[in-house]
Amino acid sequence: MEITVNGKPVECDKDDTVLDAASRAGVHIPHLCALDVAPAPHASCRVCLVEVEGEARLQTSCTMKVREGLRVRTHSPKVLRIRRNIVELLLAGHPDDCLYCARADDCELSRLAALLDVRERRYAGRVKDQPIDVSSVAIVRDPSKCILCGRCVTVCQTEQGVGAIDFAGRGFDTSVRPGGDAGLDVSDCVFCGQCVRVCPTGALGERSAVAEVSEALGKAASGRLDAVAQIAPAVPATLAAELGLGNPMAALELVTGALRQIGFSAVYDTSFAADLTVMEEAHELLGRLGGGGPLPMFTSCSPAWVRFVELHRPEFVPHLSTCKSPQQMAAALIKERAAREGRDVYSVAVMPCTAKKQEAFEVGDLDAVLTTRELLRLLKNFGVEPGNDAKLRSRPDAPFGEASGAGRLFGGSGGVMEAALRTAAHMAGAETPPRATASAPLRSGERIRTFTAPVGGRELRCAVASGLGAAKSLLDQLAAKKVDLDFVEVMSCPGGCIGGGGQPRRRRDRSGHDEMLKARRIRIHDADKKAPLHAAHENPEVARLYEEWLGAPGGGESHRLLHRGYNA
Ligand code: FES
Repeated sequence: MEITVNGKPVECDKDDTVLDAASRAGVHIPHLCALDVAPAPHASCRVCLVEVEGEARLQTSCTMKVREGLRVRTHSPKVLRIRRNIVELLLAGHPDDCLYCARADDCELSRLAALLDVRERRYAGRVKDQPIDVSSVAIVRDPSKCILCGRCVTVCQTEQGVGAIDFAGRGFDTSVRPGGDAGLDVSDCVFCGQCVRVCPTGALGERSAVAEVSEALGKAASGRLDAVAQIAPAVPATLAAELGLGNPMAALELVTGALRQIGFSAVYDTSFAADLTVMEEAHELLGRLGGGGPLPMFTSCSPAWVRFVELHRPEFVPHLSTCKSPQQMAAALIKERAAREGRDVYSVAVMPCTAKKQEAFEVGDLDAVLTTRELLRLLKNFGVEPGNDAKLRSRPDAPFGEASGAGRLFGGSGGVMEAALRTAAHMAGAETPPRATASAPLRSGERIRTFTAPVGGRELRCAVASGLGAAKSLLDQLAAKKVDLDFVEVMSCPGGCIGGGGQPRRRRDRSGHDEMLKARRIRIHDADKKAPLHAAHENPEVARLYEEWLGAPGGGESHRLLHRGYNA
């Protein structure tokens, strides 16, 4: 099908909206409430209005479907005048504290005002005076900055199936908040941060740890403590994509070098702990398959998923693997080792995830968690830009610095399952576990993937759920006994950790999010392909750790340090 946008022909699919088609053709129609994910928009902001030939009224391009021969103008004088007026009205009720806002250099509303050349306050509106919700250690909610676009509500309810926040109140008092107007800490929120990822203003943000980490680095500089960091595999994959580097290992070395430069005495690779997670999880899976049950076993490295089960589907708590996440395994080992050596360690995890802050708060062993966004802010504060400067590169530190390709796969949906299957097959006697290919169902982009995999002479029934919305529907199928499974991987954020709530936001067009995820996913798979070690059990550092310290997977010391319990 073909439509005409600003006098130029544009090819489109029959299901496209005008916004989709224009965006793909490189025409940017400003928009605020339209999302970069599938759910239908609320069409609440009206910023995306366009002029359609033959129609008297302007139309919202985010809801208008294309039709053969449609002719639209996206930036006509009439459109620009009305679009500017809409933004001026939004600004009229917005607090003028942009200089102090966490989104000061990254606010979609502010960018839009600049784009539309809004240069004076023509309307005086009332600014909402509602308290900031700082009850959660992961997410901060500032209702006065909310423009009621509804992106967060859509993503929380439709995409993630959590429904922790919704519109409440009427007229001027309308706001987006958790049920009962309680704090986020006692709400149904699982802290996945997808609402933070899509919020166009400073109404939702991560609870920043940048200031406290800077403070700790000051103490480290004067020798009063030892600051150490660990870096999750999704972080270098993301930065490699942002910097245009083909190899995420180069990005890992750049971040390691940058963190050393600002005062961290040691920087570890969380992918090492992912290998350790695989060893423990594969052992646990084989134990459950051998009669211990219950099955299916659910992976437990995504903290928002764990909280989702605890809060929303407690009947499934026994199905969660008791393995801590890689972040918490690494944290436990770092603290324990420091205690044995009599060192005072300030331990920081760099994660793509807001829920990791809540996890660290609950499980312990960490002093701070920085999201990828906070990492970039922290480095900027110290005058370090993680560009492609070879002199800055440095390899992660031993003994938690070496990882297999399997460990690196943890950054994307399906990666934990793929890594665990390699080692479970080996533990069950397979000589050479098959290397999964990109065409295998395991690596498809489907939200729910089911397949079988050979482990110990049987075909294991497996499923991968990408995003909590997918996980919820899989749980419904399990509860209704419509599927029978042995092993299930869930990552809370669509696409896995690379799509986490703590990741850098898209800058412009809604199609950009999928492209970003694809670029990060390619790098994760590439890191696995190029890794000299294929599976967790091949990692000599992991083998040494068991030999010298932990004993065997599932043993007493492993259980003390690497496993956890849950609350239904
Ligand atoms: Fe279309 Fe808001 S109405 S983006």
